[in-house]
Amino acid sequence: MNIAVGCDHAGLEASLAIRQLLAAAGHAVTDCGTHDEASVDYPDYAAAVARKVVSGQVARGILVCGTGIGMSIAANKIDGVRAAKVNDPFESRMCRLHNDANVLCLGARVLDPSVMEEIVMAFVDGEFENGRHGRRVDKMMDLESEA
Ligand code: RB5
Repeated sequence: MNIAVGCDHAGLEASLAIRQLLAAAGHAVTDCGTHDEASVDYPDYAAAVARKVVSGQVARGILVCGTGIGMSIAANKIDGVRAAKVNDPFESRMCRLHNDANVLCLGARVLDPSVMEEIVMAFVDGEFENGRHGRRVDKMMDLESEA
């Protein structure tokens, strides 16, 4: 699967670990930065990853900042994104099964690195169940036109 990964300075180290994990699992990873510890603005990286997802250049996106909160708020501003800020592997499985989340947002200052790895693998391996959940996802996406 093609997966875009982006982070701000707070998520830099975690982003590297995630990219290595995904590559080792056979995924094609697009690194959307940031690339060093200089302080940057998370919306820039959220937008870069989100745009790759909605344009179809990648199947899914993963974003890491300090809490995952800013990345999720920013990514969800882009039409077509369903970004989930996830704290454990159960939530990660569920955001794929029931919500068809296409962007995963993680907090590097919140999560233990080994838990983060479990979360990432649950997200990339998880398949949307569709059915009644498809109807609900369609209703969510219809809300975008209500601005
Ligand atoms: C950066 O200090 C921090 O605000 C950012 O990484 C993130 O946690 C925002 O939601």
